[in-house]
Amino acid sequence: MTTRYRVEYALKTHRRDQLIEWIKGLLAVPFVLHSQPTAAFDKNGDTLSIMATTSHRRYAEILRDVEELINDHIAHQRNGTQDRSKLKHLVPTVGTFFTPLLLEKAFDYQDQQRRISSRRFVPPSFNDIRLILNTAQILSLVESGPLELVTFDGDVTLYDDGQCLTEENPVIPRLLRLLEAGLKIGIVTAAGYTDGAKYYARLYGLLEAIKAAVRGGKLRSPTLIVLGGESNYLFRFNIECENLLQFVPRGEWILEDMRSWTEASIQALLDVAEEALRECINNLNLSAQILRKERAVGIIPSSDSASSKFTREQLEETVLVTQKVIDLSSAGKKLPFCAFNGGNDVFVDIGDKSWGVLACQSFLGGISGSKTLHVGDQFLSVGANDFKVSPQGVLNPRASLNSSRQD
Ligand code: IMP
Ligand code: MG
Repeated sequence: MTTRYRVEYALKTHRRDQLIEWIKGLLAVPFVLHSQPTAAFDKNGDTLSIMATTSHRRYAEILRDVEELINDHIAHQRNGTQDRSKLKHLVPTVGTFFTPLLLEKAFDYQDQQRRISSRRFVPPSFNDIRLILNTAQILSLVESGPLELVTFDGDVTLYDDGQCLTEENPVIPRLLRLLEAGLKIGIVTAAGYTDGAKYYARLYGLLEAIKAAVRGGKLRSPTLIVLGGESNYLFRFNIECENLLQFVPRGEWILEDMRSWTEASIQALLDVAEEALRECINNLNLSAQILRKERAVGIIPSSDSASSKFTREQLEETVLVTQKVIDLSSAGKKLPFCAFNGGNDVFVDIGDKSWGVLACQSFLGGISGSKTLHVGDQFLSVGANDFKVSPQGVLNPRASLNSSRQD
């Protein structure tokens, strides 16, 4: 194995979204051909504006072509032949598209905001493309709407990592506006608790604001549900309940396919995961403790070093080792699971957010993918939990706030 292979493939694929990387590669060609790094020495003042106009036209053409390839893929999906689409051939990891993506229009908008076509040294980047995809998703939802369900991740999306949704959080009036407009909201979080009091403690600012809006006559019958542990515990907002959350027994909401997740297979998978996590604690000499729950197992900083931070490398290594060990085990072949880096912890949950969002859609009466939007922060192809929801129909509002690529 050459070093180049290891660096380019083995070490980095888990930090990539292949659709975005592919689009980035397509846009690199007009950048190379039309950018004008030497324009500073050029006496002709028009050089830069000609460059910007030409680059804009070429980038827009490419994005229109990609838009058409996605439309073709959607047509194949309808016929059940998506594995034969040209896009699938070009980007084998591409998943289901629930809506077309208005990429050309989205590019026009983002180019105005970010002046991508005017840049002479920095080519269209991962974040540029992710923002174009986010905008395209919104434009498409407006066209194909009305949207019925918005699901949100918790940590790092609605509130800071490990924090709570307190009463001054600026997302509250925005979420209330969605409810007033008749949209249903799901909070699909990895945080897994069997007890409504714990979710109340994390979300009280929002729950109390909804209660006040109902009491004040601004909201009639808002629909807010919380799906915790990614796809394991369902609660619904109920003003009459203690903690404003009513526990919904699993039998009332799980999907048909989830009925085969037996207790024995769940515990077998968690045993394998726990063993792999212990091995990482030893090998990497982590100051960590194991936290085993009913439907999850993770590592958190040990109690005597609770304020310490794991390094990114330690977290990523732990996720990738654990994921591999479970993938290769027989327990890992029987059940879906999600191993992810939570910022300063690593968790393995039974099921994942794709199941969580599907369960929300089914519990709320069978809402389709094209009328659902998931908003989250974790979109690495491996080691992230929001990524599993679906390659499309998802938004990352913090795109430009995070690291240079996905988070
Ligand atoms: P999310 O961003 O809302 O999905 O929440 C992820 C965070 O929830 C993780 O980083 C953990 O710190 C925390 N968490 C608490 N309990 C669990 C659990 O049972 N499984 C996974 N994450 C958990
Ligand atoms: Mg998150």
